[in-house]
Amino acid sequence: MGATDFVYVCRVRSGGERETMEKRVLRSQAWFGGQDKDGFIHRSWMRNQGFPGDVFDGRPVIGICNTWSELTPCNAHFRELAQKVKNGVWEAGGLPVEFPVTSLGETNMRPTAMLFRNLASMDVEESIRANPIDGVVLMCGCDKTTPSLVMGAASCDVPAIVLSGGPMLNGRYRGQSIGSGTDVWRFSEAVKAGTMTAQEFMDAESCMSRSAGHCMTMGTASTMACMVESLGLSLPGNAAIPAVDSRRGALAQETGRRAVEMVHEDLLISKILTREAFLNAIRANAAIGGSTNAVIHLIAFAGRVGVPLTLEDWDRYGRDVATIVDMKPAGRFLMEEFYYAGGLPAVLWKLAQHNQLDGDALTVNGRTIGENVKDAPNWDSEVIRDDERPLVESGGIAVLRGNLCPDGAVLKPSAASPSLMKHRGRAVVFESIEHYKERIDDPALDVDETSVMVLKNCGPRGYPGMAEVGNMGLPSKLLARGITDMVRISDARMSGTAYGTVVLHVCPEAALGGPLALVREGDWIELDVEARRLHLDVDEAELFRRRAEWVAPQPAFTGGYQSLYVKHVLQADRGADFDFLVGCRGHGIPRESH
Ligand code: FES
Repeated sequence: MGATDFVYVCRVRSGGERETMEKRVLRSQAWFGGQDKDGFIHRSWMRNQGFPGDVFDGRPVIGICNTWSELTPCNAHFRELAQKVKNGVWEAGGLPVEFPVTSLGETNMRPTAMLFRNLASMDVEESIRANPIDGVVLMCGCDKTTPSLVMGAASCDVPAIVLSGGPMLNGRYRGQSIGSGTDVWRFSEAVKAGTMTAQEFMDAESCMSRSAGHCMTMGTASTMACMVESLGLSLPGNAAIPAVDSRRGALAQETGRRAVEMVHEDLLISKILTREAFLNAIRANAAIGGSTNAVIHLIAFAGRVGVPLTLEDWDRYGRDVATIVDMKPAGRFLMEEFYYAGGLPAVLWKLAQHNQLDGDALTVNGRTIGENVKDAPNWDSEVIRDDERPLVESGGIAVLRGNLCPDGAVLKPSAASPSLMKHRGRAVVFESIEHYKERIDDPALDVDETSVMVLKNCGPRGYPGMAEVGNMGLPSKLLARGITDMVRISDARMSGTAYGTVVLHVCPEAALGGPLALVREGDWIELDVEARRLHLDVDEAELFRRRAEWVAPQPAFTGGYQSLYVKHVLQADRGADFDFLVGCRGHGIPRESH
């Protein structure tokens, strides 16, 4: 059976009218269409779920790729949401088949959920290709569940549509809104500074996560939900609808319907993930003040579909875009208010009005992104700011270069302190995160607010998995003096909910012998964000001597997945994907199993 086989069918459109259309014979028919022993096997076992025989008649089989797990609390409501998707698929004449894939919960997984993003993407890719699936609904929520599903589907190049689980309602503590992650960091520093008691800290715990959904700050989950909407991978409005809002369920049903139509239209994910779509997403990230993690994930997406995308693109295309969404961690509000204000369509419409959106980019609903967001209203100019008073004039991601990061490093200006954007200070060096924890609150630590905190061996290979530890908390003795920010540099990532003048993703990482590995206590370091420069003020001859003395850290594991990971993971500037996973392997039909 080839991809060019067609049959003629009668299709009932949403409005009730009928049309005769040419329909491709879908890949699922390679399983369900045969009248032989293999067709019997494929259909018969499926029928134990109570499917009538006519569901195997050639209709689109829609895989509902579900990251539900009770260990991923942000996605714990996904079984009910999947039911809504199924309703939509049935309604549009498809056959829904829900399947589980590895679920990555940010708050529980150690040493870091990022270690498993590529593993989960393999699970998604192979699950799609190995099964009778014609198109997929990707059910994404917690941070890494979005990139792992998009990467897997991209490498199969099937019709794919993202349904996000939606953010939690606002946290509320003592009459004030509190945001996931952001206020955890703030409270924990307040306890160290002595301005919050341990009991108050414990009380706040039950006030933060009040409903189903993912982090409701503009952390990585919300950012990635905005990224997939900007890329055109979800229906308009998907990013911001709260998880418990009835409109999330309605969107799930519409997503299921649309997945069926996408299969009929052969609207492959590669038709959506164009370079123009990625540049739109980069600009959208600047406008929302999104997470630095989006840099790594989008470069990995682009690698899967063969679209060139570099760190320079992030700097170049985001630099002139103002951050207009006033949300934590950079600003004041949370996703609930963002939704009520108009959500991402309102932001994209503002970008379009400034010629900062390529309106011709195609989206999953078959229309262009320009058509989708035209005249999208902004109902609250405190949340989505007016042009005259952006949150940050020049948002985006600053990509730094210099002898400390020859292959680049990133900093999020909207989360940094303006006073530290140009800074020269002495290095206080931590060889590992454990070394940092041992020393940071030592009263004898030689550190002041002008120091530059340097953390090594937390990159893709070094941790392994590139943990979110780059926003190291400040020393207690400085917090007690009211110091709230210092320059911090590492090869780690940081949570999208975090803030500070934090240089991240230093490439090459220390564990590979990058220049970061050579920094010693007391070295002078210069940061100049405007000039995009990060410089270790140590002469070449001395660096040469240090390099000769450098000994690579020994990994703490002896086998298993982590060995595979460190052997194949690429550096952050290449999306931290596995070298053998880059690219699209298509959705060809594997040989029979019996
Ligand atoms: Fe799941 Fe933040 S912990 S989205």
